[in-house]
Amino acid sequence: MNPVNVGVVGATGAVGRTILSILAERRFPVKEIRLFASPRSAGSVIDTFWGSVTVEDLSIADPSGIDIALFSAGGGRSREYAPKFAEAGAVVIDNSSAFRMEPDVPLVVAGVNDEAITDRPRGIVSNPNCTTMDLMMAAGPLHRAAGLRSMVATSYQSVSGSGMAGVEELMRQTDWLRSNPDALREGGFEEPDSEVYVAPIGFNVIPYAGSETEQGYTDEEWKLVHESRKILSAPDIEVEPTCVRVPVVTGHGIAATMWFDRSMEISEARQLLEAAPGVEVWIDDVPTPLDSAGIDDVLVGRLRNTVGVAGGINLWVVGDNLRKGAALNAVQLAELVTGEA
Ligand code: A2P
Repeated sequence: MNPVNVGVVGATGAVGRTILSILAERRFPVKEIRLFASPRSAGSVIDTFWGSVTVEDLSIADPSGIDIALFSAGGGRSREYAPKFAEAGAVVIDNSSAFRMEPDVPLVVAGVNDEAITDRPRGIVSNPNCTTMDLMMAAGPLHRAAGLRSMVATSYQSVSGSGMAGVEELMRQTDWLRSNPDALREGGFEEPDSEVYVAPIGFNVIPYAGSETEQGYTDEEWKLVHESRKILSAPDIEVEPTCVRVPVVTGHGIAATMWFDRSMEISEARQLLEAAPGVEVWIDDVPTPLDSAGIDDVLVGRLRNTVGVAGGINLWVVGDNLRKGAALNAVQLAELVTGEA
């Protein structure tokens, strides 16, 4: 791969910083790196693998000369600036939901639907939602073999998916409840207020991740429906989603039941998943979010045949939402683009 000029937009955020460390870990061929964030961070200096880099103010930056721009600064910034970067000649890899469902923007999970990346008329490629990404790592290989027909999926999503504010809310409430243990047995949680979530997340589970949209479902739940269909190029897959927030810092888990165009035995599912890149199958141990934190592979366990409606597969998949769920996949997409002839 020839060295390229790389821009990281949202470089001071959780995903942006992880992108910088993954680019370095994977020895991505960087000629020059430029970092962008809000006016608040402009002028600050970040030490990178390629040297100290001064953060630029996105709103006044000139994107000329950038070959690949990795965007992770929220949907509003992507909508406004990604087309400008693309017009200036960059291929934009966008981590927000801004363009994911646009028909002329590919939505790609590296290792699952790589071929889709070559058709990008707007110069923009979307990185899927973190929960969908982890689930697709398991669903993709099974779908290719047997045609996924329907799927019931319940997520167990960590608070880092809501940025630093989610992590801080969990820590604050956990501290308060440890000092007020009666509230854990008898109720009466009062402090500190819940700002990020609709209910306390400390020592609790909130069956409502995301914000309400249509038919009582949250936006996170609709992402599971629509993004899964687009990634698998299968618009008719039936998806029944429930997205749950759990008091975990890193790692999104998904319990999924899948039925295919034919019945599938767990021996076949295991074989397919063991052969899939970026997937580790755990048979004797139970993979948890803590196991997934800080690693690239998505972990699959609890493989079982369905016992109600026969012929399907029950499984559990868990992945680091900041790595494969966001930054790692973005870098893998950059590698696919850079590796093109
Ligand atoms: P900044 O640190 O200057 O606010 P996170 O979701 O982890 O909080 O990260 C959000 C990222 O998006 C940060 O790098 C943040 O930069 C950046 N960002 C937020 N608002 C803007 C904006 N108006 N213009 C450019 N970057 C922004």
